[in-house]
Amino acid sequence: LDNGLARTPPMGWMSWQRFRCITDCKSYPDECISESLFRRHADLLADEGYAEAGYEYVIIDDCWLEKNRDTKTNKLVADLKRFPSGLNALADHASHTIHDRGLKFGLYQDFGTHTCAGYPGVINHMELDAQTFADWQVDYVKLDGCYANISDMAVGYPEFGRLLNHTGRPMVYSCSWPAYQEPNGEMPDYESLKQHCNLWRNWDDIDDSLESLLQITDYFAKNQDRIQPHGGPGHWNDPDMLLLGNYGLSYDQSKLQMAIWAIMAAPLIMSNDLASVRPEIKDILQNRHVIAVNQDPLGIQGRRLLVKNNIEVWRRPITPEAPSGEYSYALAFVSRRTDGAPYSISFTLKELYLNNLKGYGVQDLYKNNLDMGVFGLESQFKTRVIPNGVTFFKFTAL
Ligand code: DGJ
Repeated sequence: LDNGLARTPPMGWMSWQRFRCITDCKSYPDECISESLFRRHADLLADEGYAEAGYEYVIIDDCWLEKNRDTKTNKLVADLKRFPSGLNALADHASHTIHDRGLKFGLYQDFGTHTCAGYPGVINHMELDAQTFADWQVDYVKLDGCYANISDMAVGYPEFGRLLNHTGRPMVYSCSWPAYQEPNGEMPDYESLKQHCNLWRNWDDIDDSLESLLQITDYFAKNQDRIQPHGGPGHWNDPDMLLLGNYGLSYDQSKLQMAIWAIMAAPLIMSNDLASVRPEIKDILQNRHVIAVNQDPLGIQGRRLLVKNNIEVWRRPITPEAPSGEYSYALAFVSRRTDGAPYSISFTLKELYLNNLKGYGVQDLYKNNLDMGVFGLESQFKTRVIPNGVTFFKFTAL
């Protein structure tokens, strides 16, 4: 969507994967979907270095609404208990806190009659709701697709986008329609997605496990010829949230997700409890070398290049371009092996489709850009990867 927004993949924090639809604030005061959860996370983003690293959107996912619209105005109403200032709670509190901290405010809704968790959706009130979002100073809208006819989406999602645009307030528009079409055997129209949405969820929801993560990366790899060319500035494929900081991934598996998300030019939307992210995981989330790959200005999405001995090689063209015109590359070596010991593997540069005659300067992105020297076209590149781990390098074309 050419609205001047999301020129690089959006970065931020969203409630769903970690906090789901916890609404019992009595039993779980620190976890329930409430004003204080978002205020606390806005503060943590700003105070703990995340905002400086580039994470800017604070996004309220499902379960923020009252079960009914306002009977007089038909407007959406935020849950009166959990967003205690009533109808304007979001405007007066969430958006203020978020904006005051220099961050941006994202909000979830659903194209259908109800959100997935059963709260009112936008379908018969699209104009009113788009205007309400603008009045509430929303900067990012995630529009889900539960309780809707899949066949209405190709027209309905662009229509809601037009209504958002019509308000005059710039809002990033995240669409879920392919995630409903693909599993039902309908092929999404990527040209239309690119024109009407800033990002879109292609596939299944991510859960807190390596298994779920790999199911998603396998989907993107298998379908990359169809999907990868459509990612670019202003319009991104979205493999879903970052799991880092939660229960399911080890330290090394956390590096793995961050590396593949950087290669895939994926939105970096964390969903975790930022108050309890361990320092070593925070370092991965804030690794500026890896984030620079994700945010590379060329905006070309990477691909799974090859698989050798159960080591996957993922590769993305990035800046700087050499005088020869060849791109530099980020390369991630992802082990799908589970046989105990770290596994050593070598590649010729030709095998990695690296053709710059003057060669490449190589740096290790997870070792604070440690310089590994220059590799000419005749060299072998060797790396050693632990089971379900990753090594991640920048090959700068000389
Ligand atoms: C399905 C979406 O894909 C998830 O990301 C989340 O928004 C839930 N719905 C909320 O109900």
